[in-house]
Amino acid sequence: MGVNMLGSEGPGQERIRRIVEPPFRPRDVEERTQGMIPKLAHELIDGFVDRGGCDLFREFADPMSVRSLRFMLGLDEIPWEDLLRWNEGLMPGLANFEADPAKQAPADEASAAMGEAIERVLDRLEREPDGSVLSWMLHRSGEDAMSRAEIVANTKLMLSGGLQEPRDLIALVVWALGAHSEQLAEVRSDRSLIKPAVEETLRWAGPVGTSTRQTTEAVEVAGTKLEEGALIAAVLSSANRDPNRFFEPDRFDVHRREGAHVAFGVGNHFCLGAWFGRHLARVSLDILLDRLPNLRLDPERPPTISGWEFRAPNSTWVRWDPL
Ligand code: HEM
Repeated sequence: MGVNMLGSEGPGQERIRRIVEPPFRPRDVEERTQGMIPKLAHELIDGFVDRGGCDLFREFADPMSVRSLRFMLGLDEIPWEDLLRWNEGLMPGLANFEADPAKQAPADEASAAMGEAIERVLDRLEREPDGSVLSWMLHRSGEDAMSRAEIVANTKLMLSGGLQEPRDLIALVVWALGAHSEQLAEVRSDRSLIKPAVEETLRWAGPVGTSTRQTTEAVEVAGTKLEEGALIAAVLSSANRDPNRFFEPDRFDVHRREGAHVAFGVGNHFCLGAWFGRHLARVSLDILLDRLPNLRLDPERPPTISGWEFRAPNSTWVRWDPL
C-alpha cells in the first residue's frame, strides 16, 4: 500500500493521524453522511421489500458499506464494483505474513490499479475541492500538507479497513440479534438499545480478529521469550471474551454494563473509522427494523461464520412479514 499510518510508529504516524482525524470525528461523520446513508438504506430496501426475504449480506450490508465509504472519501466517480474487486485483490497481500510471492503479485497489481484511480480523482480535486476526506487531505497546507504518495497510501489503507468491516458489522449485528430473538424483540421496541446492541456485537463477534505487531527487541511476555523482530498477533477477539473482564463472556447480552471492548484496537492505532463504522451499523439497523416487519433469520439458510484475521458471515438470509 505504501508507507501508511498503520505501518508506521512515532512522529510520522502521529502527524498523519492529526491531519486525517477531523473528518472522522462523530459530529463530522454524522453531518457529512446525513443525507446519504439513510437515503441509500431506503433505496436498497425498496429493491427487495416486496419479496419477504433476501440475503441481507449481499443485497444490503455490502452495498451500504462500500457506497457509504466511497461517498465519505470522495471516490463516487469510481465504480464500486472496481473498488471491491481491487480491495479483494489487495487483502491476501495484507494477510501475507509468510511473504509468499504468489500471493503478493496479484495483490500488488490490484493495489496499482487502485492507486491510479485515486490519482485521477486527486487531479480533479486540485481544481474542484469538495467536502470529501480526499479533498480535505489534498488541501491541507504548511506542516499539515500531505504528499500525493502519503494521500494515496493512506486512502488505500482506509479502503482496506473500511470497505469490508462495516459490511461485516451490519451482517453480524443482524445475525447476533436474530440468534437471540428475545433481545431482537427488545431492540425493535426500544431503539435506545441499538447502540448497546452494536457495541455488544463488536465485543462478542467483532469482525477483526487480531492486532499485528512486531517486537523491536527481545522481550519476555507472560513467561514466553520472544525474539527481536517476532511477529505478534494480539488476539482482540480473545481479549473481548476475557473472563477476568466480562461476566459470562460467551453470552451475548445487549444490557451489559462492563464498559469498553477492544474490537477497534487500542492506543495510537485505534481505528480511524470507528465512529463511521458504528454510525453506519446503527443507522442501518434502525432503518431495517422500521422497514422490515418482524425481521428474523431464515431458519432454513443459517450463515457460516468463518475467517480469523477478518471474521464474518458468508450470508445473512432473513425473512420478514408480508407488507
Ligand atoms: C466497523 C468496522 C471496523 C472495525 C471492527 C475496525 C477495526 C480496526 C482495528 C482493530 C484497528 C487497529 C489495528 C491495529 O492496531 O493493528 C483498525 C485500524 C484502522 N482502521 Fe478500522 N475498523 C473498522 C472500520 C473502519 C473504517 C470504516 C475505516 C475507514 C476509514 C477504517 C480505517 C482504519 C484505519 C485507517 C486504521 C489504522 C489507524 C492507525 O494506524 O492509526 N476502519 N481498525
